[in-house]
Amino acid sequence: MTEHLTIVDHPLVQHKLSIMRDKDTSTKSFRQLLREISHLLAYEVTRSLPMTTRTVETPLEPMQAPTIDGKKLALVSILRAGNGLLDGILDLIPNARVGFVGLYRDEETLQPVQYYNKLPSGLEDRLVIAVDPMLATGNSSAAAIDLIKQAGATNIRFLCLLAAPEGVARMKEAHPDVPIVTAAVDSHLNASGYIVPGLGDAGDRMFGTK
Ligand code: URA
Repeated sequence: MTEHLTIVDHPLVQHKLSIMRDKDTSTKSFRQLLREISHLLAYEVTRSLPMTTRTVETPLEPMQAPTIDGKKLALVSILRAGNGLLDGILDLIPNARVGFVGLYRDEETLQPVQYYNKLPSGLEDRLVIAVDPMLATGNSSAAAIDLIKQAGATNIRFLCLLAAPEGVARMKEAHPDVPIVTAAVDSHLNASGYIVPGLGDAGDRMFGTK
């Protein structure tokens, strides 16, 4: 993956995202749509995985069949909203290793505060896909990537649903080696650090906590 930012402009992704943005969309529908969209985003973020072949005996004859090369992928969910993307990606990559980074945003400083960090072993040999639906200020995402790099990962991609230009810029400055895949880049952040027009608080919308 060579582009720093990939926007997945597939009609299904864009259509589903528009329904998710609607403030009248229920928690149940939001969650279902997030799961569906995460399948499509997972498809895109894994597009350039290295491939090899293995011998498969079909009912007719042996063949060299394409298969993904290397160690199992690692998915890292940035809690708590990352879990909404994680579940859908695991539908497609069920043997992935899974880690969690817990960061909350201090509402005054908007800076990330870490409260949990549990990552799979062998990250130096795995492609790591870090997931968080909302790339807002980029502070939490950049801090999560710092932790993932400290654990040894050198091949990392970041997958989100929505990004703000400020977050994309922050990530590019802090981690220019980490490609970002997203469904859209919105207009800006408001004073509270929310993406505008956005979809509100992704965690609250998927877990029904507001
Ligand atoms: N986190 C969210 O859930 N929504 C935003 O708009 C920004 C950060």
